[in-house]
Amino acid sequence: MRLALTYNVKHDNGGNADMQSVSANAAKYVNRDLVENYPERLDDTYAEWDSMETIDAVKSALVSENHEVELVEANDDSYFKLKELKPDFVFNVAEGFYGASRESQIPSMLEMLNIPFTGSDSITIGICHDKSRCKEILSYYNIPNSKFFITDTPVKSGSDLNFPKFVKPLHEGSSKGIYNSSVVNSVEELNSEIERVKSCYGQPALVEDYITGKEFTVAMLGNGNDVRVLPIVEINLDTVPEGFNKIYSYEVKWFFDTRENQLDIFRCPAEIDRKIYSHIEKVCKDAFRVLRIRDWARIDIRLDGNNVPNVIEINPLPGILPDPADNSCYPKAARNVGMDYNKMINAVLHEAVKRNSGN
Ligand SMILES: Nc1ncnc2c1ncn2[C@@H]1O[C@H](COP(=O)(O)OP(=O)(O)OP(=O)(O)O)[C@@H](O)[C@H]1O
Ligand SMILES: [Mg+2]
Repeated sequence: MRLALTYNVKHDNGGNADMQSVSANAAKYVNRDLVENYPERLDDTYAEWDSMETIDAVKSALVSENHEVELVEANDDSYFKLKELKPDFVFNVAEGFYGASRESQIPSMLEMLNIPFTGSDSITIGICHDKSRCKEILSYYNIPNSKFFITDTPVKSGSDLNFPKFVKPLHEGSSKGIYNSSVVNSVEELNSEIERVKSCYGQPALVEDYITGKEFTVAMLGNGNDVRVLPIVEINLDTVPEGFNKIYSYEVKWFFDTRENQLDIFRCPAEIDRKIYSHIEKVCKDAFRVLRIRDWARIDIRLDGNNVPNVIEINPLPGILPDPADNSCYPKAARNVGMDYNKMINAVLHEAVKRNSGN
């Protein structure tokens, strides 16, 4: 097939005044030692985007099955490039840049041009990227997730709230804006985090009940009744350094767990009670179905005090770092069932093509 690969690629961060102010702002909230030792890791502007290494790996996976592949960067020229190229199919990993529905922009263009593509459509991708909209749908279908509200103004002191709460930006990924300080135990701490999210990210804060049980992430592949749950990955939060909250925060993902110094944070398949394992699989299949996700996704789960799997959030465009030396959950789960990177990428394409042809 003649394919296009739509993507956003990480830029060299140097010298941009806007980005420096983002870093300076975030530095107020991150552990001082980390800021001093790794100032270059503080800027999270492009944390969700892929490296050229990942884009090249996806392209070469597709080429290995004899497809022709054109790279189309997601920017304000993409529509015209796609219109001119008219590929048979698009492999989409573009995260977009502007606005809460930025991940929907390439899917919308492709829908307008009537070009089929891998992954979820613009509606589902947009809904999943707004964590409160996603939770509203999960709640409607009684799929467990933590109680929440959203706000961009402080809550009144004396408000009737149970603590601890968890505070995060409404529409970010890659743990952007999720620091150790996201776990709050008082109205003062909560208001400081609401202010942080507003000033650093210009968006409301999602305030959730803090779920403290084991954490898992679940790679899904396929469609409809045939959707496969790949081996569940446990995020072993015991590896989070002393003094830090047991969460998979920005600090853990980007400061503590690096290629040079990999944390032993994933266990795949998760070693847990069979009943809980099956319950997680069921919750993920239900979430996949009600949100009308297509082809692939990665769903984050945490167990509550009754060992009920709660959906933390859903990633219809999962991270796919190709080098096993980087901790990346979707490729890790795929490797566990004997799918190397090339096979995994082509499996997603096959699922999308099969869905598109109605089989
Ligand atoms: N309500 C919650 N209770 C407990 N922990 C939470 C809660 N929400 C988030 N977390 C912790 O914070 C981490 C990051 O949160 P979340 O998955 O929402 O962020 P993200 O940036 O969308 O992640 P990703 O990198 O998977 O895109 C979770 O993996 C989990 O450890
Ligand atoms: Mg997550």
